[in-house]
Parts: sequence; C-alpha cells; structure tokens
Amino acid sequence: MTHSFQQTASIFSVMTQMANQYGAINLAQGFPNFEVDPVLKNITSDWAQKEIHQYLPMAGYAPLLEKLAQLTQTSYGRKINPATDILITAGATQGIFTAIQALVQKDQQVIVLDPSYDCYPTPILLRNAEPVRVNLNDDFTPDWKAIAAATNSKTRMIIINNPHNPSGRIWSEDDFLELEKLLELYPNLIVLSDEVYEYITFEKPHISVHQRPKLYPRCVSVSSFGKSFHITGWKIGYLIAPEPLMNEIKKVHQFLVFSVNSLAQYAINDYLNQVKMADLGKFYQQKRDLFRELLQPTNFELLPCEGSYFQTVSYKKISEENDLEFTRRLVQDYGVAAIPLSPFYADNKQTGCIRFCFAKEENTLTEAAERLRKL
Ligand SMILES: Cc1ncc(COP(=O)(O)O)c(C=O)c1O
Repeated sequence: MTHSFQQTASIFSVMTQMANQYGAINLAQGFPNFEVDPVLKNITSDWAQKEIHQYLPMAGYAPLLEKLAQLTQTSYGRKINPATDILITAGATQGIFTAIQALVQKDQQVIVLDPSYDCYPTPILLRNAEPVRVNLNDDFTPDWKAIAAATNSKTRMIIINNPHNPSGRIWSEDDFLELEKLLELYPNLIVLSDEVYEYITFEKPHISVHQRPKLYPRCVSVSSFGKSFHITGWKIGYLIAPEPLMNEIKKVHQFLVFSVNSLAQYAINDYLNQVKMADLGKFYQQKRDLFRELLQPTNFELLPCEGSYFQTVSYKKISEENDLEFTRRLVQDYGVAAIPLSPFYADNKQTGCIRFCFAKEENTLTEAAERLRKL
C-alpha cells in the first residue's frame, strides 16, 4: 500500500512570513533572537583558519563522540560506547528522518502523540508505513489508555517528545513506568525519544530515556546542539542508540549525509569544555519567569511551562475564534506572531491555545507583552 502525503508550507514558515509582512514581533518560530555566545564564535573563527575542512569519519569527530559519551554519563548516569552508540547528524530533523527510514518497515505502524512537531509523519509515510496519531490528554500529558488501545503487533515505534513542543510539559516517572509496561507487552516495539529541549527545564527535573535501564536497549534518543547552544542555523545534533539499532541507522546515514560539517564538530567539541549544560535551564528560566510575569495582566491564561522555550496560553477568555483565525488577527491587528496548536494535530483539534516562543531578548518580550495587554 502506498500512502500519499501533501507537502505544504509549515505553520512555522507561514507565521514567520506573516510576521515579516505585517512588521510584527515574531514569537512564532522557535529560534533565539539574541547574540550567540562570543566564546563559541571565537572558537569557530579560530578553527576556520586551520586545516580541518575535509570529511570526518561517518559517525563524527572522535573526540566529540567521546565528549558526548561523558556528557551522557554526567547528565544521566549512563555509560555508552562512543565508538558504536553515537551518531552526529545534520540537526535533529535529519536524525529523526534517518532513524525512521532505518528502523521502520513497510506496512508497520508508528505512534505519534499529538500535538506533535511536524517532522515525524513524512519519513513514516515515505517508508510506506503508517503514522497512528494519538492525542495527548487536554493537559498535554500522555493518554495511556488511548496509547494502549492504538498499539498492536504491527506497531514498530512510538515517538515521544520530552520536554514537549508545543506544550512545554515534561514527562513524569509514572509516564515512563507506563511506557515500560507497554514495551513489555510488545517485544518488537522501539522508542524514538525526541529530547531536543533536554537541557531547557526548570523546577521539575527532566527524565531522559538514558535514565531508564529497561528502555536503553530499545531506544533511540535525539539531541540538538541548535537548541542547546542557540545555533539553530548550524543544523547539528546527534542520536544515541544501542549498537544493533545504530548499525541500521548508519546504513541510511552513510548515503544520506555521510559525515556532518567538520568546522561545526571541531568548534562544538571545544565549546563543550567551556559551557555548563546545567546553566541553560537557569538562563531560560529567567526568560520564562519574565515572560509569564509580563503576561499576568493580560486576558490569556498561562498553562504550565516545565521545559522548552515555549509558553502555551489559552485565549478562551478573549475569543471564540478558531486558533488559525485568532493568530491571524493577532499578527494583523496587534503585531504579535504566535503559533496556533491545531496544525500540530492530525484531527486539527481546537484547544483554544496558542504557543509563544520566549527565546527572545528582554525588550522583545516586553514589547510583545505590551501589545498583548490590549486584547
Ligand atoms: C520537538 C522538536 N524536534 C526536533 C526539532 C528539530 O531540531 P533541529 O533544528 O536540530 O533539526 C525541533 C525544532 O524546533 C523541535 O521542536
């Protein structure tokens, strides 16, 4: 069976284009608008002068792989083999695409939890496999009854995203226990764990699949330096998976990318000596707290933001419009671009919520909040 899929402009580019057209403040697309760390910029210019511009080994620059193994140990207490279990990718998006192409077969099913980031379904459809979209609960926690009901012997993979885009929720210990139960029932089921916001968490600690020994042998995790170091344009990230799964992933990576940008790998390897990942949460917590405080006097209802750089708000007290109409009006009449949630759902569910990105300079957030107070 061949599935067809439609390629349309993503909601992120549509809203960014509208923001530009109306000269609006862009709190829509998830990218930082502040200066990248000068330390990283200097390291990069120094490396650019040296002879490091040829192909690197397929999996990545060996010292960087070592360093990421150390980081996995310090962050999550898990020992992995840098020579076999890590792959540097051209961003999380390529990692996700490659893992799905390598590990999912024709006619198998993949559970995608909605609202979901938009890069999951297409690689599944290109594989002639079937994305099975299951909505999260209204508070954006996993609906384990619905997930269990959607799982069967054809289910090859479940994609989880924690911390979650767009809701900013993070998974609890109980959620992991439920996932582990599900994996016990289905021996062929594997997990693709999109953890690109792993270092952007606040009061509650982020639980990674790397802290769950029952999950290790059946998990591929996805990380993004773009998110962790405010360099989304570099498009560089990495996958961690046990060797048998990683061997399959490398068979695709070999012919899709071969090896990722050498300058970026050298620079990030050095930068990892200087940066404290634990500081990232603190950095964004200030922005989150400021943005939430600025939004207090508005008529928006603030939903919990436990991780990521997204604040989801309900506009139910302001309007009964659907979220596409509401965000369009927000750009045109109030000069602030946000992301509606319905495009993150296969059934275009209307939640009465929209998403703002607070990875912005203080004055951008202040100005945006002033405009939002007029609603
Ligand atoms: C949940 C999620 N996964 C993956 C990505 C893609 O990351 P990258 O830019 O490293 O490809 C994003 C980017 O917004 C994201 O929000």
